[in-house]
Amino acid sequence: MSDKLKGKNAVVTGAGRGIGREIALALAAEGAKVVVVDPGVSRGGEGTDLAPADEVVAEIKKRGGKAVASYNSVADFKAAEGIIKQCVDSFGHIDILINGAGILREKMVWNLSEEDWDMVITVHLKGTFNCSRHAAGFMREQRYGRIISLTSDAWRGTVGQSNYGAAKGGIVSFTRSIARELGRYGVTCNCVAPMAATRMTLTEEVKAGWRKRYEAGLITKEHLDELLNMPGPEYIPPVVTYLASDKAGNINGQVFHIEKGRVAIYSEPVEVRAIYKTEAGGMWTFGDLEQAVPKTLLVGYVNPAPQEEKR
Ligand SMILES: NC(=O)c1ccc[n+]([C@@H]2O[C@H](COP(=O)([O-])OP(=O)(O)OC[C@H]3O[C@@H](n4cnc5c(N)ncnc54)[C@H](O)[C@@H]3O)[C@@H](O)[C@H]2O)c1
Repeated sequence: MSDKLKGKNAVVTGAGRGIGREIALALAAEGAKVVVVDPGVSRGGEGTDLAPADEVVAEIKKRGGKAVASYNSVADFKAAEGIIKQCVDSFGHIDILINGAGILREKMVWNLSEEDWDMVITVHLKGTFNCSRHAAGFMREQRYGRIISLTSDAWRGTVGQSNYGAAKGGIVSFTRSIARELGRYGVTCNCVAPMAATRMTLTEEVKAGWRKRYEAGLITKEHLDELLNMPGPEYIPPVVTYLASDKAGNINGQVFHIEKGRVAIYSEPVEVRAIYKTEAGGMWTFGDLEQAVPKTLLVGYVNPAPQEEKR
């Protein structure tokens, strides 16, 4: 046990398995009291199982820490309120919120059902909103808080997971917004995009899917090898613990990538070039744009998915 987070109370959602589990154990090892939130659903979000959350609580206690379990789903606004209140009622206040709950429903967009879309958006994006919304009031009031939300590199665009990519992109935009709303109250909001072998990323079925994508020419051999040799989730918590600590009080609205020994930071999404029409009342025509865009705005541009030859 260490004391970098002594006196702090944390909620970790999706803490029963994978990355959330490692984060919950690490925060507790640094002295934080932890609400371990996990209804124990399947990879696709079905069913419930109390065992994963109970096991993590037992492990934290065995190591000398303090933790309680919540089996509430982050997808439900009221249930999320209950999660945050449980932290305040059990431990006195809430200082740290880790939004880690997640599910996957992978299909190409033309095969996605409405339910596949709704479930993934609801657990990830709405779940992050739900918990952050309820934590924000307490954190603003006490003028201290840390909200760290799990996004994914998929936020930049991905194949076969457009619902997930959209949810994770939404989490980045949401985080950048609430960082600007809450920063002045001593509450920081950041994202981490991990890469780690869990049931989400490295089941036999997932591996077969990656190989299929490689064979279809959708990913490179280098990317395939990287995915098949993914490091474990135990590399993720140190960055999260740092961001959750007093030492990171001036880090706000940022997106970090974490993968084994590599920690990276994303650039700000800024406009890189602009063209201006000065004549004709400042209005571009189709013909102007057809001429100007390839020679100006899109110099050096590469289409991420060019049309293939007809077979
Ligand atoms: N593993 C990776 O490489 C990777 C990459 C990018 C992003 N992420 C993100 O990291 C987070 C953790 O993923 P993981 O790989 O550890 O997956 P995981 O499946 O091992 O763990 C996710 C946990 O979330 C729980 N959960 C699902 N729906 C929930 C809900 N409605 N309420 C509360 N808990 C719920 C599940 O029961 C599960 O225990 C997710 O947000 C995921 O999108 C993971």
